[in-house]
Amino acid sequence: MRRFRVAVVHGVNLDQLGRRNPEHYGGLTFRELERQIDEWAKDLDLTPRFFQTNHEGALVEYLHRAEGLVDGIVINPGAWTHYAYAIRDALELAAVPAIEVHLSNVHEREQWRRHSVISELCLATVAGQGPDGYRDALQQLRDHLVSVVPVPTPSTGTPTGETLSRPDTPRVHDDPDESPGDPLPDDVNVSAATDGIDVPDADVPSANPEPPAADR
Ligand code: DQA
Repeated sequence: MRRFRVAVVHGVNLDQLGRRNPEHYGGLTFRELERQIDEWAKDLDLTPRFFQTNHEGALVEYLHRAEGLVDGIVINPGAWTHYAYAIRDALELAAVPAIEVHLSNVHEREQWRRHSVISELCLATVAGQGPDGYRDALQQLRDHLVSVVPVPTPSTGTPTGETLSRPDTPRVHDDPDESPGDPLPDDVNVSAATDGIDVPDADVPSANPEPPAADR
């Protein structure tokens, strides 16, 4: 079975978990959350990459580079969820299956949190499950990727391509290891702006310069 590469992407203020209202966001720090997600992803035989930024343009550029470098995205854009059309458009450009996650139950909070500009692009939205929502999202993403990856035919050994040609199926690459131009080695799974997809703006500060503990 191939290992799918999944980008776990966090937006604005999520690096401040641990300082934010525990009633909505729980008690984990962001680093602890990423470590937990890293474990869940590896349990599911996924290859995770992590990225967090408080700069909208950095997230846009990250998403611009995602196509061909990752097979799927789990994304919690934070407050950008509710109004950032530039991130919505960049996620569309990424053209890989995505699942939206929110730690809190955005559907039962303030009115302005109930609208998401990205949900129409996502296979599913998971909200209100706290950290466990990421495990759910990773599982759903993996199930989806397994279901759309072309199976080699016995006669030719080549993919049938049937599942890829459906117009409503998000694009999945034939070979996840085939990534010409991938600027980083496959085993780089680090947090923030130093992550696998090399955001060109080196000035963007990294809130999480170190990788999850499991990788160290
Ligand atoms: C959030 C919900 C957003 O409304 C909020 O702005 C966040 C976090 C969540 O994970 O519950 O920053 O995305």
